[in-house]
Amino acid sequence: MEIEVADATVQFGGVRAVDHVTLRHDSGGVLGLIGPNGAGKTTLLNALSGVTRLKSGSIRLCGRDITRRAPEQVSRLGVARTFQNLQVFGSLTVLDNVLVPRWVRRRVHRSGPRRAAERQDAMAVLNRVGIAEHADRLAGTLAYGLQRRVELARALAAEPQLLLLDEPLAGLSRVEGGRAAQLFADLAGDGITVVLVEHDVSSVLAVSQRIVVLDRGAVLATGTPEEVVADPAVRRAYLGEGD
Ligand SMILES: Nc1ncnc2c1ncn2[C@@H]1O[C@H](COP(=O)(O)OP(=O)(O)O)[C@@H](O)[C@H]1O
Ligand SMILES: [Mg+2]
Repeated sequence: MEIEVADATVQFGGVRAVDHVTLRHDSGGVLGLIGPNGAGKTTLLNALSGVTRLKSGSIRLCGRDITRRAPEQVSRLGVARTFQNLQVFGSLTVLDNVLVPRWVRRRVHRSGPRRAAERQDAMAVLNRVGIAEHADRLAGTLAYGLQRRVELARALAAEPQLLLLDEPLAGLSRVEGGRAAQLFADLAGDGITVVLVEHDVSSVLAVSQRIVVLDRGAVLATGTPEEVVADPAVRRAYLGEGD
């Protein structure tokens, strides 16, 4: 899904969380969005998913202006996301975590005729993220890294064209993080456009085709991972801060 952000500004009182950001990303691949804490990464994702309104500027997804659309409308266009703070129904099974949002979205009744097919689709998604064997366990009893996968499965169940991930690697071990990053690259290989927001740089550089560096709400640099790493402004403002 093609993303076009034009001169976007989000203001919270005196804080300009997103400050005249312009960026463009063609369909497909992984777009890495990095920057120090408070740079405006989450706010930009919120704007892309319709949760936060722009003060000025515009956002187009696949050529459609979503600047003033509500989150439900944006999600119907094929946008799904995960949150910086894990959002999983701990007291539901892993399978139901994926099924319940589908039932709500498609108004499929729990005992209706489409139930078997829905289950099969949900199991396919669990399989895709590698947690099918945990389908019947309560999500809250799983290790943190697996719960992160449940959250990802819930987002994928919406069959998104654009997947927005807010610090999905936070709290994962190096090995888990590496696997998760590879999974994001695989999803992009399936044709889903992935926006990967991360505080931790190295894994993002490894799987992204393009990087946008935010600093204090503004775009500091854009380019391939190699270009961004070599950029003196980036090194000064971000990579050099001993992260
Ligand atoms: N709802 C809000 N109300 C007021 N200020 C906010 C709100 N959300 C974010 N901010 C401020 O906007 C700036 C960017 O925050 P955020 O987008 O969360 O950055 P990041 O995700 O890059 O760490 C920060 O200064 C933060 O304190
Ligand atoms: Mg954030």
